[in-house]
Amino acid sequence: MNWNDGYVADLDYPAAYFAEQSPSHLNIACILNGVEPLPVDRPFTYFELGAGMGLTSNVLAASHPQGSFYSNDFNPAHVASARQLADEAQLANMTVLECSFADLAQGKADLPPLDYITMYGVYSWITPANRQCVVAFIKRYLKPGGVVYVNYNALPGWTRTLPLQQLLLEHASCNPVPRVRQLEQARDLAQELAKSGAAFFDGNKQLEHRMASLSGDKAGYLAHEYLNSGWEPLYHADVADELADAGLAFIGPADLSGAFEGDYLTVPQQELLAGIDDPRWRETMRDYLLNTSFREDVYIRGPRRMSAARQAAWLARLGVTLTSVADAVVAPEGANGADAPAMRQLLDALASGPKTFAGLASLTGSSLQAVARLAARLSAAGHAACYFLGSETADAAPARRLNRAIAAQSTLGDHYQALASPKLGGGLRSGLAQRLVYQCLAQAPAGAQPEAGDISKRVESLMLGHFASCAPDSPAAAALHAMRAALPRTVAAILAQRLPIWRSLRMM
Ligand SMILES: C[S@@+](CC[C@H](N)C(=O)[O-])C[C@H]1O[C@@H](n2cnc3c(N)ncnc32)[C@H](O)[C@@H]1O
Repeated sequence: MNWNDGYVADLDYPAAYFAEQSPSHLNIACILNGVEPLPVDRPFTYFELGAGMGLTSNVLAASHPQGSFYSNDFNPAHVASARQLADEAQLANMTVLECSFADLAQGKADLPPLDYITMYGVYSWITPANRQCVVAFIKRYLKPGGVVYVNYNALPGWTRTLPLQQLLLEHASCNPVPRVRQLEQARDLAQELAKSGAAFFDGNKQLEHRMASLSGDKAGYLAHEYLNSGWEPLYHADVADELADAGLAFIGPADLSGAFEGDYLTVPQQELLAGIDDPRWRETMRDYLLNTSFREDVYIRGPRRMSAARQAAWLARLGVTLTSVADAVVAPEGANGADAPAMRQLLDALASGPKTFAGLASLTGSSLQAVARLAARLSAAGHAACYFLGSETADAAPARRLNRAIAAQSTLGDHYQALASPKLGGGLRSGLAQRLVYQCLAQAPAGAQPEAGDISKRVESLMLGHFASCAPDSPAAAALHAMRAALPRTVAAILAQRLPIWRSLRMM
């Protein structure tokens, strides 16, 4: 084996931001699942395993100046990118390590005991031996009460699509051509097979979105998703057993709405689960009910269950804000249509800015739990984010430095698609037009608010480099042309609707 242990290392993974990895978000998941969270209003330590280009860690470090953040990757190109972003934003609380999971398990890095360890797109993409290293690392460094976030491709949901990955991997291993070419050829082959009426594709609904992803997603993403030799979807019970070796217990899904089963299980399904006490078996049954193909879970080393009164006290320390512009929010569907009026009331209240759970409970005449449930559903639908009330006074300077660095980078490429908010303790995914408008506003003299028309012209000139970096007839070029044509309207909308959100979340 080479240094990369069969893991794709000749094509970079695209940068991405994942809110679920935020310490604040994980604490809120703990609270909603009735488990004592870690206090993040004081110094804490955080480690991201396999951080790729490091966008998530950098956004989290910038938006939690009270925390010390560490990340690792064994791919030097990823490490260099992550360090560069941290340096440009002068994030003194961010350390990027170039080392493998085996190095970490053996204690080769100089690290303090850790409060949080997270990994996105890692656990089911690496070899079993590397999974053992991850578990050994957690065992070695995670503090009692420490929180782990892990996600993985899961069974039984992958059962009917597993052979597609095998086809791509096998085809790639027989084709010693450059990686991008391997992917193109494997994709063409899968499409040809499907068109030829291959029985494997017959009536296999689950393959549809995987095939669509093969056509539409970036080569870097596809290579890391499908072409690792250790790739293996896992059952919850197996992961729970492996992590139990590090003293971890499963406490709930990282998706906030996952804490409210009534929103996604039918009554008979809830009754079926209600009779099961063993959490390992209960989750297994849930995965069969939902045919789960991807899990995002929170584990704790020594979880402490809270009383209802203690949970209510924590809920009273939370707030919620819209992250989509108010006009664009469609109330998410839930299993329980009776919620519609309460959801409408909540959305109307949030249209004028962030609100506390307690304020919303008195406004709507409902309990903190009921507000939490609706807020969780809005957050899972990508329209809102929950936050800790104390975070409003956190130092906003590091997040603003990172946002400026990301906005400046956006004039050269479209890699870093998020901006940081100290109020949220995390970031918001932000499109290219938004980041270029941010860049124009950040460059304007203090106190001046440039005219929308001037910003539109400036953004158009900042986009020119993007045209140069893609082939004239490519889908990327078509998307840029469409963006340029819509700029005056887009810029006006960003100034009218997005800028107030940035301001209320202390992002600029
Ligand atoms: C699918 S990518 C996910 C990156 C990042 N977490 C994200 O979601 O954007 C997995 C990352 O793990 C790294 N990785 C894989 N095996 C590793 C190992 N044994 N030691 C250190 N890093 C590893 C890869 O280089 C890659 O950057």
